[in-house]
Amino acid sequence: MRVEKLELAEIRAELEGCRKCSLCEGRTNIVFGEGDPHARVMIIGEAPGKKEDELGRPFVGASGKFLNELLEHAGLKREEVFIANVLKCRPPSNRNPQAAEIEACSPYLRQQTRSIDPDLIVTMGNFATQFILRTGVGITRLRGTWQRAGKFTVMPIFHPAAAIYDRSKRDVLFSDFELIGKYVHDKIAADEQNQQADAGSCDAAPRSSKE
Ligand code: URA
Repeated sequence: MRVEKLELAEIRAELEGCRKCSLCEGRTNIVFGEGDPHARVMIIGEAPGKKEDELGRPFVGASGKFLNELLEHAGLKREEVFIANVLKCRPPSNRNPQAAEIEACSPYLRQQTRSIDPDLIVTMGNFATQFILRTGVGITRLRGTWQRAGKFTVMPIFHPAAAIYDRSKRDVLFSDFELIGKYVHDKIAADEQNQQADAGSCDAAPRSSKE
């Protein structure tokens, strides 16, 4: 599907007052997402929880605290990534997103992804992973493996909330975030080298006789 490239502010304006599904009835705030609009890494969760709904910000509750630890472990700052969710409104009692809700909300996430144009998309948990990769395969099989969705490189990982209930997933998440950190820092180094090589080739270019 072709998606028009919009600025994040335009996407946010479209989302304001959204009534495309019944989740609008129970929300306190829409949770658009936050971070660097030109982030190299876009992190996608499932849906806002209670605290996120109250504050209108993603990952500010218990799983957000753990996500911050994981980012730090990878050598990444929260402000340099962009964090979003598949659903922008909280499902009642944090129940799983329904297919019709995902469908109704999907244009916003697609537009965000296109606007940010990250080097890497990190999908957390089954809902984000299955949406981005258009697959029915579960996160336990996919986590920690490099995937592609169109032009994007994707790293599926467990949802940090899963590690709050199952401590054995903590180590797995830390090791997946090491992969993510290495990917980003290698990409930054490669881009810097290319820029230097480009600058060098300009210096080396023969000067025109008019100079
Ligand atoms: N879980 C999510 O998937 N997203 C949030 O924003 C918070 C918790």
